[in-house]
Amino acid sequence: MPGPGNALIGEEELQQVVEVIQSGHVFRYGDLEDPHYKHKVYTFERELAQRCGVKHALAVTSGSAALICALKAVNLQPGDEVIVPAYTFVATYSSIIFCGGIPVLAEIDESLNINPADIQKRITAKTRVIMPVHMLGNACDMDAITKIADQHQLIVIEDACQANGGSYKGRALGSIGAVGTYSLNIFKTITAGDGGALITNDDNLYTRAFAFHDQGHLPNRAGVEVGARSILGINFRVNELTGAMALAQLRKLDTIIQTLREKKRKFKSLLTDIPGLTFRKLPDPDGECATLCTVIFADADKAADVAEKLGTTTVARSGWHVYANMEHFNRWLAEKKLPHGKGAYPITDDILSRAINLSVGVVDAGLGSAFGINIHSTDSEIEQTAEQFRNCL
Ligand SMILES: Cc1ncc(COP(=O)(O)O)c(C=O)c1O
Repeated sequence: MPGPGNALIGEEELQQVVEVIQSGHVFRYGDLEDPHYKHKVYTFERELAQRCGVKHALAVTSGSAALICALKAVNLQPGDEVIVPAYTFVATYSSIIFCGGIPVLAEIDESLNINPADIQKRITAKTRVIMPVHMLGNACDMDAITKIADQHQLIVIEDACQANGGSYKGRALGSIGAVGTYSLNIFKTITAGDGGALITNDDNLYTRAFAFHDQGHLPNRAGVEVGARSILGINFRVNELTGAMALAQLRKLDTIIQTLREKKRKFKSLLTDIPGLTFRKLPDPDGECATLCTVIFADADKAADVAEKLGTTTVARSGWHVYANMEHFNRWLAEKKLPHGKGAYPITDDILSRAINLSVGVVDAGLGSAFGINIHSTDSEIEQTAEQFRNCL
């Protein structure tokens, strides 16, 4: 049971997918007047944009593809620097590298998201983009980040791949910067098996992102653009089967977030009075996806001991999302003579060595959330899990 959307796959997804198969039309484009064309991708894009309060949404094959399209949309140039957190998934870094840019890592703070004060320190003449990542379904301090970006005329691209459905001060995560990206892999709030999307309010960025995702074509291939295609693109198109899955899941997103928030509230209330234990700071607690509950200990040895007893790991040892644990990325950093390896970002190392991710809706050993509850957990299961946690202290 990796993510909450995955756990709820059922009749609604079946119906949507069957409709596409019965129609015989699996390509994302078609004539909206043609009854055989069920326009699932198109409808998913419309509903996602509406839900996020933006003009445009574009479905693509993955969150990684969404990040690449976003960077291509803003025309990232070779050597441009993009400031990113030292705690994120490797795709945040590799998407920048594959667009010719340089990921410049910044420390996180106890929100487990990028520390705005550290962003300031890393700005150089080559900085073009700030890419905050709403890790584990929780908002970054977007007011502070937007202020820094405005002061230095930098573009903000939100990596909201883990935060589809979350918000910051009433605005959908992903809708605050110039472009926002989502992943639809199985560990995310909603899933199509794989897939992704980007959102933006900017017509030009949308047109460029669309063109990059589909061989330079205009949005929905409207009009005859042969001979007038603006940029060279590639193929990150999704088909109608993915669109059908994504649409059925998107329609469940509100229920998913509401259910997780309720379960997390109960779970967290059973852990609040433990001396020496704090929770991750949330810049907007009302907007969280509530996919995880991160606890922070005062002492790294204690955290490691408790994690072992629970059959999980501290975030620092969790593997995939910690810069120091990405051997391939560290080789790249080393070749470029950039800071790399454990110790390069000591504040991040320290916080992650004292943190444990307890699952609420996302059960993912790669995130260090092998222990906790899930979207189906009953009240008594939540109580038992909290008791188990307390017994390990
Ligand atoms: C923060 C973050 N960015 C980007 C991605 C990439 O998404 P995908 O796996 O859909 O390519 C992920 C996926 O785990 C992620 O967690």
